[in-house]
Amino acid sequence: MKIVTVVGARPQFIKAAPVSREFNRAGIKEILVHTGQHFDENMSDIFFNQMNIPEPDYFLDINSLNHGAMTGRMIEKIEEILINEKPDYLLVYGDTNSTLAGALAASKLHIKIIHVEAGLRSFNMAMPEEINRIVADRLSYFLFCPTDTAIQNLKREGFDNLNCRIIKNGDVMQDAALMFEQYEKKIDINIPEDFILCTIHRQENTDNEQNLKSIFNALQVISEKTKIILPLHPRTQKKLTEYNLKNSSNIIIIPPVGYLNMLYLLKRCSLVMTDSGGLQKEAFFFHKLCVTLREETEWTELLENKFNFLVGCNSEKIIETYNNLQSVDTDFNINLYGNGTASKIIAEEILK
Ligand code: UD1
Ligand code: UDP
Repeated sequence: MKIVTVVGARPQFIKAAPVSREFNRAGIKEILVHTGQHFDENMSDIFFNQMNIPEPDYFLDINSLNHGAMTGRMIEKIEEILINEKPDYLLVYGDTNSTLAGALAASKLHIKIIHVEAGLRSFNMAMPEEINRIVADRLSYFLFCPTDTAIQNLKREGFDNLNCRIIKNGDVMQDAALMFEQYEKKIDINIPEDFILCTIHRQENTDNEQNLKSIFNALQVISEKTKIILPLHPRTQKKLTEYNLKNSSNIIIIPPVGYLNMLYLLKRCSLVMTDSGGLQKEAFFFHKLCVTLREETEWTELLENKFNFLVGCNSEKIIETYNNLQSVDTDFNINLYGNGTASKIIAEEILK
């Protein structure tokens, strides 16, 4: 059995770590293609090194382009690789442009596609990720869904009538957290006793000056009560400079960190504030509440159980929600994303 896996962005490296290990254990030959979408040392190499992910067999070095150009160039290169490697399957994770490119290239060559994190929807077609995941799902044969909501989304869209296999396997990010939490790595700065862990990178927040200013205004106010550590995605860093947004000393901005540093921060923070998809779940894994700087989330079970609070980018709403968190009484003792066997299930199902 031979699988070509396409990865390109930070969360995909983290998801690949437990899955590649299971493939190795199961004797599945995996050819790893890194599109190069993320390329800074601390957005890419650090994950391969720290998480023992095998070196990519192919590195495409395609990044920093408009969506069409990026996806198009990736398709062309991935197609060449697939013709050359003749795999049984192509595997993609999540919803990035690398996911879309991999799925399109394989579908035209009639190579069956495995989509991990299938069925998620924000129902916001203005998000590039929503377009990517809908297309990737529609083209896939194996649809590995992390949640019941994801399965219901696919059924509502008529996937029961398609030639595909819908499987609930849990969340590979839960696997990664369980696999690596013991290797948490202390970060090289002085950590305040009490701090909020924050990340911001989503296009709708960064590329709109008003939205980013509004979020930062709220962070300034909140940071007077609780300091904020903000490992900043390069896209957001560029925008802070462009919009001339000044920072206060209570918001500790640091470059992006590796996953092991992230685990260290996650375990010690008092709250997570983010527009990240993955981090919303990791907050839950480590029993922290999460304030989500978006208008919608794919992880609706976190909202239903009051682990997560959607606030968008409105300053007043962000501050008000933060102020009201003290009164939230939450029991994290519930299993929402499986028990760390999501990757094993993927390997077993493919081999069946
Ligand atoms: C991408 C994904 C998003 C995912 C995120 C994970 C798409 C459409 N978006 O968003 O779903 O949540 O990755 O982090 O695929 N940049 C650097 N150095 C890097 C990486 C990026 O400077 O190592 C810059 C690029 O030059 C680019 C900008 O950041 O200008 C955005 O990068 P891009 O990969 O297009 O999108 P992300 O925001 O990272
Ligand atoms: N992450 C990290 N270093 C950082 C910021 C995030 O290792 O500086 C990890 C985070 O813990 C999670 C993943 O990256 O596992 C989430 O990726 P991101 O927020 O970039 O993308 P999304 O999940 O929104 O697609």
